[in-house]
Amino acid sequence: MTTNKAFLLDSRPGERPAGPHNFRLVETPLPTPDEGQALVRHLWLSLDPYMRGRMNEAKSYAEPQKLGEPMIGGTVGEVVESRLPGYAPGDLVLGMGGWQLYSLAGRGHLHKLDPRIAPPEAWLGPLGMPGVTAWVGLHEIIEPQAGETIVVSAATGAVGSVAAQLARRAGAHVIGIAGGPEKCAFAVETLGADACVDHRAPDFSERLKAATPRGVDGIFENVGGEPLEAALTRCNPFARIAICGLVATGYDGTKAALRNFGVTLAMRLKIQGFIVSDDMSLWPQAQAELTRLHATGALHWRKTVAEGLEAAPEAFFAMLKGGNFGKQLVKLR
Ligand SMILES: NC(=O)c1ccc[n+]([C@@H]2O[C@H](COP(=O)([O-])OP(=O)(O)OC[C@H]3O[C@@H](n4cnc5c(N)ncnc54)[C@H](OP(=O)(O)O)[C@@H]3O)[C@@H](O)[C@H]2O)c1
Repeated sequence: MTTNKAFLLDSRPGERPAGPHNFRLVETPLPTPDEGQALVRHLWLSLDPYMRGRMNEAKSYAEPQKLGEPMIGGTVGEVVESRLPGYAPGDLVLGMGGWQLYSLAGRGHLHKLDPRIAPPEAWLGPLGMPGVTAWVGLHEIIEPQAGETIVVSAATGAVGSVAAQLARRAGAHVIGIAGGPEKCAFAVETLGADACVDHRAPDFSERLKAATPRGVDGIFENVGGEPLEAALTRCNPFARIAICGLVATGYDGTKAALRNFGVTLAMRLKIQGFIVSDDMSLWPQAQAELTRLHATGALHWRKTVAEGLEAAPEAFFAMLKGGNFGKQLVKLR
């Protein structure tokens, strides 16, 4: 192939809600690597909720995505041409190649992957950023103790599915929250949750109460909104809440209001937001543990695969509303 295809961020969501119309597909000549660069052909693209936040101009923990440039995104690919010492054609690499078929990358922006350890796309899921996110939120903030009750929202998603399994391994009772009976069954039967409550059920709050007779000692929060408001009311004194994500707010820049906030004082809660890249020194330990669990078959995960780059925008917006079941990926080859 002699051309590259890329989705650029063409406009920011404004009065019109965010949607595929904010992206533009362009075809450009295939770039050639300069000294110190490698050309990578992408095999897999990761779709992640943080990308929605980057579409906004508002101040956040990271710079907004620039207009007219390929959308940011984690990729796994193979080197096809290299002027980067240590990298040769055929090497399997993890990078931030974005929503496109090819990218150029220099030193420090590619990580070689060993295909004998796991299928390459696993490095965009449980062994990569989402898995490490679960590990950090759980072990650094919640610190679950045996016998405690830990609630995990979006429990079958890329992050939540790992958080639920790690909490279970720490000896906690795990109560998942997920959208629909199929996801809830997976949380219990495959991920090992003790129970899972469907947030779409009209009596969701009552069901969560019934599933947490001893209260809640930790919340791994991926969603915000009603699931978090309900879980707050179940908290025991000194419960720990890791705010990992607030995807239910739509990441559209509007304020995320929270009911039941008074519980934070009454129950002396510790609430901490975190970003997985806050402390990169934690990654080796987290990835070593996740890789070890994967090798023994003890780390379960699912993926939802969209076929071809053209499918990325629809799959992305579907994922933000629960259209994915497990890690959302785009297969590019
Ligand atoms: N802090 C960090 O460094 C960091 C890093 C990675 C990800 N995150 C955050 O972690 C969260 C999970 O990310 P992920 O990549 O693993 O995505 P994911 O859970 O695989 O996909 C998003 C899920 O959110 C759930 N959801 C969406 N709208 C909802 C609503 N209104 N109510 C309840 N659930 C809703 C859906 O699950 P159901 O169908 O089960 O409802 C959907 O599948 C996101 O909030 C993301 O922004 C944070």
